[in-house]
Amino acid sequence: MLTISPGERHKDLATVGSVLSGLASVGAERGDVVVAFGGGVVGDLAGFCAAIYQRGMRYVQVPTTLVAQVDSAYGGKTGVDIPEGKNYAGAYHQPAAVICDPAVLATLPDAERSAGYAEVVKTALIAGGELWERVRAGEGETTPPPGEIPLPDDETILACLRAKLAVVAEDERDGGRRQVLNLGHTVAHAIESATGYARYRHGEAVAVGLLAALRLSGQDDLREEVAELLRAHGLPTAFDGASIDDVVDLTQRDKKRVGGRVPFVLVEAPGEVTHGHHVTRDDLRAAVAELRAV
Ligand SMILES: NC(=O)c1ccc[n+]([C@@H]2O[C@H](COP(=O)([O-])OP(=O)(O)OC[C@H]3O[C@@H](n4cnc5c(N)ncnc54)[C@H](O)[C@@H]3O)[C@@H](O)[C@H]2O)c1
Repeated sequence: MLTISPGERHKDLATVGSVLSGLASVGAERGDVVVAFGGGVVGDLAGFCAAIYQRGMRYVQVPTTLVAQVDSAYGGKTGVDIPEGKNYAGAYHQPAAVICDPAVLATLPDAERSAGYAEVVKTALIAGGELWERVRAGEGETTPPPGEIPLPDDETILACLRAKLAVVAEDERDGGRRQVLNLGHTVAHAIESATGYARYRHGEAVAVGLLAALRLSGQDDLREEVAELLRAHGLPTAFDGASIDDVVDLTQRDKKRVGGRVPFVLVEAPGEVTHGHHVTRDDLRAAVAELRAV
């Protein structure tokens, strides 16, 4: 078994090097299978190592965080960060299987439950319909002791992963529709990068990024409702530790930019989420500025 130190800052090329050497030192062959047991960091990193070790071997995802169970374990995007940008080195490599057992979430600390909830809200906004109604009503959530963060039930987790897989099935390589899965992520990645991948969990940055996307979408009422849901689940609705301009600049350097322009994912209504929108720097700056904690 190869273990890695926890944290996004270890989802990097140095850790890839040590995992590849670890695989080689135990004599791993192309026909062997890597099992990625952990959260999104382990899944992205192990999947990437499996994609490149001896030009590719199979891997199985065993997601143990809410983020990984509702989102990152499916769809075959693998990769690591470099100082210049998040997920800048990666490969599409579909897992041979995903083994998802929500029972393992029982030990997940509150902050990680919250981080996963941000991806649940994102997925529900994209899917709309029953999933959105379920999430906005808090239906099926566990009732933890006061002050602790609830977990979604199996049904919500299953609905989220099905919603993601339906999008991926339409567009595996991100040529179009799959980009909607990036709702809130363009600003989120910039916040993570501007704060050195150390201040915010991915899901926490997504919470803030969703609010930017909803403002840019002109969905003020929905933005308020989402902000309430996020707050009630212990998520930040503002960022600090980076300047407004750093976040705006990094957003405009997002790896999804085409011809120098970053396409944005915007929301018309829950279930009506579209990609490829142009947003002016002024509008982006205003949406980011109101999220800077004072
Ligand atoms: N590939 C994709 O499509 C995709 C989608 C979304 C997010 N991601 C990536 O996922 C990463 C974030 O994943 P994450 O939120 O799972 O964070 P993570 O992998 O860093 O895990 C969070 C923490 O929870 C701990 N942990 C894991 N399982 C646990 C359990 N059952 N009980 C107690 N503690 C446990 C881990 O040790 C870690 O400290 C980011 O790098 C993000 O870019 C990828």
